[in-house]
Amino acid sequence: MKTRITELFGIEHPIIQGGMHFVGLAEMAAAVSNAGGLGIITGLTQGTPEKLAAEIERCRAMTDKPFGVNLTFLPSVNPPDYPGFVQAIIDGGVKVVETAGNNPQKYLPALKEAGIKVIHKCTAVRHALKAEAIGCDAVSVDGFECGGHPGEDDIPNFILLPRAADELKIPFVASGGMADGRSLVAAMAMGAEGMNMGTRFIATAEAPVHENVKQAIVDASELDTRLVMRPLRNTERVLTNPAVERLLQKEKELGADIKFADIAEEVAGVYPKIMQNGEMEIGAWSCGMVAGLIDDVPTVQVLIDRIMSEADTIIHKRLSGM
Ligand SMILES: Cc1cc2nc3c(=O)[nH]c(=O)nc-3n(C[C@H](O)[C@H](O)[C@H](O)COP(=O)(O)O)c2cc1C
Repeated sequence: MKTRITELFGIEHPIIQGGMHFVGLAEMAAAVSNAGGLGIITGLTQGTPEKLAAEIERCRAMTDKPFGVNLTFLPSVNPPDYPGFVQAIIDGGVKVVETAGNNPQKYLPALKEAGIKVIHKCTAVRHALKAEAIGCDAVSVDGFECGGHPGEDDIPNFILLPRAADELKIPFVASGGMADGRSLVAAMAMGAEGMNMGTRFIATAEAPVHENVKQAIVDASELDTRLVMRPLRNTERVLTNPAVERLLQKEKELGADIKFADIAEEVAGVYPKIMQNGEMEIGAWSCGMVAGLIDDVPTVQVLIDRIMSEADTIIHKRLSGM
């Protein structure tokens, strides 16, 4: 399947693994790239530019295929060393960067000069158009279904993708709710040229997370995610658990007066405890509604091959026979 996305990134299949905090380590990115997709290391998880440089080296030792680095621009009091991360990416010879969160414009000249392709992840058509206008090469359009931060507009992919197709000139991938060959063909039908998956890639053999995390995704249905931090306009879709329900109760009780400090116990610094130690009830972690479509833990190669063969069957047998 050749699309503008496979051509742009030099990959075999139009499938991208989105950046994921404490999941997007070298093992994850290399497994996806080796299977013909685009694997992505999550920059901020590494903490410092030096550690990111080492992680890029580690990934390069595991794959000779292209892989990317995610840079998430978060609103924060003490911002991470973004210029340092950008330099580590350039020095590491990485050819693709997935940006997310705030506008990446400040860092585009340096990335472009180094010949790096930039795909910006966004949850609204107006943000996608802005990304196109500032010179991003592609966008990842993240619908309301997605695990992580769906934004505040709540537009699901059945509307968002065709809207993006109507407006954008640069290629885009569908993100949020993508799990299988059906997702890929549907995304293509709506104008996307590939798909980005988060949650689905966590439930794979190679994902470098505790088995409890994979099992939680397999056990979850499409009814088991919740939206937290909406009153802070930092909405995140997470898997429910007692800590998440406690957090939601605080949001209800404190209303508009809620501050980040009120919910810090449930969200701050919980990722390593969940992803590495498997302490599933310690706090909130991102998970998409797509968990309802996930009921196994295959290798990444099996998953990607299965998606491509399902897509082929749908296109050449089911649809062409109608
Ligand atoms: C556990 C987890 C952590 C994530 N962390 C990040 C992150 O640090 N930066 C980012 O841009 N997106 C992050 N995401 C979003 C994913 O890259 C992707 O856009 C999203 O998962 C797509 O929706 P899906 O889960 O339905 O496939 C995360 C998602 C999950 C599930």
